[in-house]
Amino acid sequence: MILVTGGAGYIGSHVNKELNKQGYETVIFDNLSAGHKELVKWGTLVIGNLANIDEIAKVFEDYPIEAVLHFAAFTSVGESMVKPSEYYRNNLVCTLNLLDVMRKASVNKIIFSSTAATFGNPLRSVIDEHHPQVPINPYGRTKLMIEQMLADFDRAYGIKYTALRYFNACGADPGGDIGEVHIPETHLIPIILEVAQRKREKMVINGNDFSTPDGTCIRDYVHVYDLATAHLLALKRLLAGENSDVFNLGNGKGFSNKEVVDAVKEVTGINFEVLYGPRREGDPAVLVAGSEKAQQVLGWRPIYTDLKKIIETAWNWQKSHT
Ligand code: UFG
Repeated sequence: MILVTGGAGYIGSHVNKELNKQGYETVIFDNLSAGHKELVKWGTLVIGNLANIDEIAKVFEDYPIEAVLHFAAFTSVGESMVKPSEYYRNNLVCTLNLLDVMRKASVNKIIFSSTAATFGNPLRSVIDEHHPQVPINPYGRTKLMIEQMLADFDRAYGIKYTALRYFNACGADPGGDIGEVHIPETHLIPIILEVAQRKREKMVINGNDFSTPDGTCIRDYVHVYDLATAHLLALKRLLAGENSDVFNLGNGKGFSNKEVVDAVKEVTGINFEVLYGPRREGDPAVLVAGSEKAQQVLGWRPIYTDLKKIIETAWNWQKSHT
């Protein structure tokens, strides 16, 4: 059985669907602080908190766990700037509890949700796995510290890990079963879609004075379905006895915030006003992934490379869900 922490969240729920589709049995452990019961449509949901070591230890007593996919975390760059204490406590302590319980239960395989935010301001136009990791916000720092924790646990206790560093996760299940639900929503694409739906009054682009062609930030948008297939490949590799490794996951092509707004207008056929505000603290200007390693070592082939196709899946979910 596969344990999916944070499996009621956005990325975890999509990976959970794919795991079940491919015949894995899953236990989802989630405290529902940011996750949603309705997104757990496959596997067994256990509501519990990783901060409480007994609650997570019980899952390993109750189910024959073979490997862990660890999504549970606080994940907002902006929020981490104003609530660093919560981020360090939640992300670090909960992961340490999980790893200690795994160690005691002799479960030695884990896939960890890391992030492009561990790199900080890029020194090159494309960020591959060798790029220095100098995070510029507490969120990124917690994820980098966990990568280091994992390396130490591998060296000392033989826990094998794969850290997958997502760039900007986006889109929704092409089958329409699940999608992105954040309360409050802070991510660019769903916010723009809410403005298109007239559910949100206005849209503010954070900064138009970055050193990019149109002055707005550039991000690499990677579809959540493609992230799910990467997790399945990484899991199979670990279950086959391979060593620990890290992979960047993105499309290798960046879109500016303004380009994303324009693509939403095109896909939805709806026009709306866009305002420009100040920069958001902790935002690097450009983040674009080099994912050749994931393609070569894992055999990963992202299929959603077209921004409009990505937005279409998110729009279909947004319309049916809200
Ligand atoms: N943005 C706006 N207006 C908004 C919301 C966002 O202009 O209303 C901008 C942001 O300032 C940024 C871009 O849109 O320039 C993307 O912002 P998101 O909040 O959608 O995503 P982030 O790039 O901040 O963060 C995401 C994930 C992180 C991850 C990071 C890695 O949420 O977990 O990608 O690239 F670390």
